[in-house]
Amino acid sequence: MCGIVGYVGSSNSLGVLLGGLRRLEYRGYDSAGIAIIDPAGALHTRKRAGKLQILIDDLETTPIASGLTGIGHTRWATHGGPNDENAHPHLGDDGKLALIHNGIIENFAELKRELLESHPDTVFTSETDTEVAAILVGLEYRRTGDLAEAFRHVVARLHGAFTLLALHKDEPGVVVGARRNSPLVIGLGNGENFLGSDVAAFVEHTRRAMEIGQDQIVTIRADSVTVTDFDGVPAHGKEYEVLWDASAAEKGGWSSFMAKEISEEPDAIAKTLLGRVVDGAVHLEELEPLADALAEIDRIVILGCGTAAYSGMLAKYAIEKWTRIPVDVELSHEFRYRDPILNARTLVLSVSQSGETMDTLMAVKYAVANGARTLSICNTQGATIPRESDAVIYTHAGPEVAVASTKAFVAQVAAFYLFGLHLAATRGTLSASEITGLLDELQALPAQLEEVLEQHDAIKQLAGWMTDTRAVLFLGRHAGYPVALEGALKLKELAYIHAEGFAAGELKHGPIALIEAGQPVFVVVPSPRGENSLHPKVISNIQEIRARGARILAIAEKGDASVLPYADVVIPIPLASTLFEPLLAVAPLQIFAMELAAAKGLDVDQPRNLAKSVTVE
Ligand code: F6R
Repeated sequence: MCGIVGYVGSSNSLGVLLGGLRRLEYRGYDSAGIAIIDPAGALHTRKRAGKLQILIDDLETTPIASGLTGIGHTRWATHGGPNDENAHPHLGDDGKLALIHNGIIENFAELKRELLESHPDTVFTSETDTEVAAILVGLEYRRTGDLAEAFRHVVARLHGAFTLLALHKDEPGVVVGARRNSPLVIGLGNGENFLGSDVAAFVEHTRRAMEIGQDQIVTIRADSVTVTDFDGVPAHGKEYEVLWDASAAEKGGWSSFMAKEISEEPDAIAKTLLGRVVDGAVHLEELEPLADALAEIDRIVILGCGTAAYSGMLAKYAIEKWTRIPVDVELSHEFRYRDPILNARTLVLSVSQSGETMDTLMAVKYAVANGARTLSICNTQGATIPRESDAVIYTHAGPEVAVASTKAFVAQVAAFYLFGLHLAATRGTLSASEITGLLDELQALPAQLEEVLEQHDAIKQLAGWMTDTRAVLFLGRHAGYPVALEGALKLKELAYIHAEGFAAGELKHGPIALIEAGQPVFVVVPSPRGENSLHPKVISNIQEIRARGARILAIAEKGDASVLPYADVVIPIPLASTLFEPLLAVAPLQIFAMELAAAKGLDVDQPRNLAKSVTVE
């Protein structure tokens, strides 16, 4: 939520800021704004409600002065609606300081009241919590004459989660930032330095990045970077090289980032497996810090939100089957409010594409504070959740820019499966040959998924026929159930169509009342092969709803003739066993939702009301 970029160097900061904001726009797109200090020391700001393009158009019509120091912001509204006044930057009361913010200052009302008591003439021009921080830092600057010191005095009074960035006209060539439970990274250049919500903000200019720890303040100048804690004690962040280059976060020739990212799913799985399967066995060196703990654990709790949580549901089926360790899957935002039972034998396994989701971060911190061991699965190098965990397994899906998660999901499942097989090997719950066989299936997925993606045009045609649809249901059983939930989530968030995912067995307990003539229902049909296949049960479920008029859109194994008499449409997928099938069945549903949204003329990459990285609770 909210993208932040800061720059000090020798280039015109406007280009750097707008380039950074373009790459960060996925974090929020309710409004955008910039502040620049020109060489004469004057402060210029511009901000506009709506998507970044509106600001860019405005700057083209009425150019702003150029300068070598600047900050930029793209907003996902929390306090105050998405209008020009509430857009960032916000100014100090003398107009000399500009400040941008990501997060929520929980005690802003109290601070505002105190401010009005001590400075009754203060005029607030917005409804935001951010403006309170801007005015406080501005006042402290007048007292201390030092931006970093002014920050130190103010951040100590703020409650909640925040990243703040500010510049002051009396300190040209300086941008100061602070973070608590909200992301901020440093980009290290030659004669220029950057700050960003994530590396996408500056990867076009440098791939050298540095982490900033919790509760730290950073000051960048063209030739220096200084980090301290909130008390002013010097600190030094870990430097790292960004593994992907700028082109990875470009749309290329694709119609949308989402289309591009779905096409990258085979690669996302392949890269996540790369180097981690050696001679038919799993190699996860990153689990070394947890080696002793993993030998002791007797329970696993998987935490995530949305699509990430659905990947966790799939992981539960696999990890329990392969290791016989009980696995619970919980939504991160529910977890810590119900006094969960945790101890050193519990592994809390979080999953997050961004690694910054506040609900999951807080749940992980809660788990650490209550004695559990923690492992994270994450797609973003250097993000906060992995840094708070004992160990991390990175997925290597590459940057995911479209707000709706697609390639990250399949990479998360691949990472979970690697972990499950590693645990099964160390615990001896599967034989070496069983593990090799399962790894072979995992490694076959990228090629199989390529085959699924070849059906894009046929699925697009189906979506094109259904633009007037008001509601769609999704059914699955066992490993098909999380896929049904994910298919429904994608359709809701992209096409704004009411959609529900159900475990097919649950239908007769109530939801079947929703079925009426013509109701479209996607059904994830399990493979008819294999012992204990749920295939006959799902065929019965299909018959039950078909008898009541449902239109059946089946995703079924290639060559499964038994589904043909009952389905209006069949989307065939390659042969795979129960736990691997979901990784092939999900892409058609992602494509369907995307193409239906596109056919309705909607913005596929930036659906309304959403933001990619949910850094507020
Ligand atoms: C849905 C979607 C969200 C995210 C969820 C968690 O398409 O993208 O449901 O999966 O907000 O985000 P991360 O994985 O970044 O923690």
